[in-house]
Amino acid sequence: MEIEGLKGKAAELAKELRKEKLPKHVAVIMDGNGRWAKKRGLPRVKGHERGAKTLRKVVELSAKLGIKYLTAFAFSKENWKRPREEIDFLMGLLRRYLKNEVPTLEKNGIKLEVAGDLEELPGDLQEKIKGAVERTSSGERLELILAINYGGRAEILRAAKGMAREGNFSQEAFRRHLYLPHVPDPDLLIRTSGEIRISNFLLWQIAYTELYFTPVLWPDFNEREYIKALLDYQRRERRFGRV
Ligand code: IPE
Ligand code: IPE
Ligand code: MG
Repeated sequence: MEIEGLKGKAAELAKELRKEKLPKHVAVIMDGNGRWAKKRGLPRVKGHERGAKTLRKVVELSAKLGIKYLTAFAFSKENWKRPREEIDFLMGLLRRYLKNEVPTLEKNGIKLEVAGDLEELPGDLQEKIKGAVERTSSGERLELILAINYGGRAEILRAAKGMAREGNFSQEAFRRHLYLPHVPDPDLLIRTSGEIRISNFLLWQIAYTELYFTPVLWPDFNEREYIKALLDYQRRERRFGRV
């Protein structure tokens, strides 16, 4: 594929991408910000700042490629166990991300959505998220799903309760009670930073997702690395239990 604005090795690699074999939904566990900063003798939060820039680039390239859904793990339920200052910084970074990115998202036809228990977030952040979701609601090019205060088990429990209320115990009924029932399961899940685990992300949805793990730390994950992951995905044979 020819992608406008791509240069050098990334543009070279992109030529090998086949439009019809691209994933429809990519999910990413954006990990390694802290280690990226530590390696440079910087405070961990500097890594988060750089990580936000990486996300911007990945969103932009996803839109250009015609990927329809991008889910990014921004803050897990377990991340509340981090030092108060780091949590405050991450909440502040989310506020800044929304403020800076929403106009661009709106302009580029990107619809913002969130998965997670928002009611446990600071009140003003909840409002800002709602505002951003509303402002971008007409976007049709790409859905950017930020998983914030998200946990896969919490989502499963929530859906199980919804299903019980409904009195319908089918997989379809279960799905209707997920945070975002209209979103198809991810085709590809990328985790950066060399950790080979799921960390309570999208447990139900990844039943048949292709998994891609890279040692690259999230702030270093650039267009080239993203295209490498997509090329790897294109080489996989998805069988879904068939022969
Ligand atoms: C991922 O980077 C970002 C969040 C979890 C918010 P980390 O902060 O987990 O970075 P490492 O894993 O400590 O390097
Ligand atoms: C997963 O990364 C959560 C996010 C990327 C937001 P963590 O760094 O929190 O995961 P563990 O603790 O290494 O499993
Ligand atoms: Mg981590």
